[in-house]
Amino acid sequence: MSMEKHSVLKPIGLVHGHTEVRFLDDTIPVLTKVLGLDMLDRHDHEAVLKHPNTGWKLIVHEGGAEVQAKPERNHYGVRVANNEQVDHAYQYLLAHREELKLTKVVKRKERAGSYSMFFVEPGGNYWEIESYENRHKAGLPYEVAFPWKTVLTEERLPGCGYVPQAMTHGTMECTDLQASKKFYQQGLGLEVITHVPTIEPHDVKHPTTPWYVVSLEVPAKNKHYLTPLQRYTVAVESSTALVEAQREFSARKDEFGLTSVEAVQESRGAQSFQICDLDRNWWEITYLAS
Ligand SMILES: [Fe+2]
Repeated sequence: MSMEKHSVLKPIGLVHGHTEVRFLDDTIPVLTKVLGLDMLDRHDHEAVLKHPNTGWKLIVHEGGAEVQAKPERNHYGVRVANNEQVDHAYQYLLAHREELKLTKVVKRKERAGSYSMFFVEPGGNYWEIESYENRHKAGLPYEVAFPWKTVLTEERLPGCGYVPQAMTHGTMECTDLQASKKFYQQGLGLEVITHVPTIEPHDVKHPTTPWYVVSLEVPAKNKHYLTPLQRYTVAVESSTALVEAQREFSARKDEFGLTSVEAVQESRGAQSFQICDLDRNWWEITYLAS
């Protein structure tokens, strides 16, 4: 008799990515002027940004001068329409490096059809500007390679020579992908996919939306441990579902190898709790009362 266990969460979305920066005043101009994000809200030490073509929000936390630089394997990425725009972005960011206070601007070798460049914003975080032009040519469906409904025009970022059309992904490190996948799928209720048939699926996403979190397997000795401010947020449909999920994760903590399951808290009209997973990556489960 086969008894498939239900996932702990039945999430309604992967709704937020979080990032910790040093100073909002240094980072926000980079996010808005060269990555094409809109600022929706700003409090004292927190700002909410969003790309117009992408539904998830980026929550930016200000931590001050002592915030540690994060590794390349914990970056967020935006996608442009073609490889030429990646070259333009590289040239533009090199030329404006000082004015934007970027600490690094680097070109990357094409990997499995993904053509991209990286830079480090003044808050200590890598960002990627990527093109899936060659992945599409290799057979990746158009709507996956170019996950936007409205094409933004040059006026979005005047004079830059490229336009980020979507904020496609975040990334994190894991040390045992198979064990971690069990938590992503059977715990968080998310799916794990790949865009390239030869690569083991490791992109964690909600089935109804295109953005994803890449889980990169690394040897334990290379794993970086970040703060809860570098978390991802998954939403559930009700307050009851949230409380039940907290209870079930607590009960199944050992089964999923979780490092910690925090208590439910309330702030600014949302109820949530945090989980530190088997890789000590942080997740927030939330009910956003609307
Ligand atoms: Fe990436």
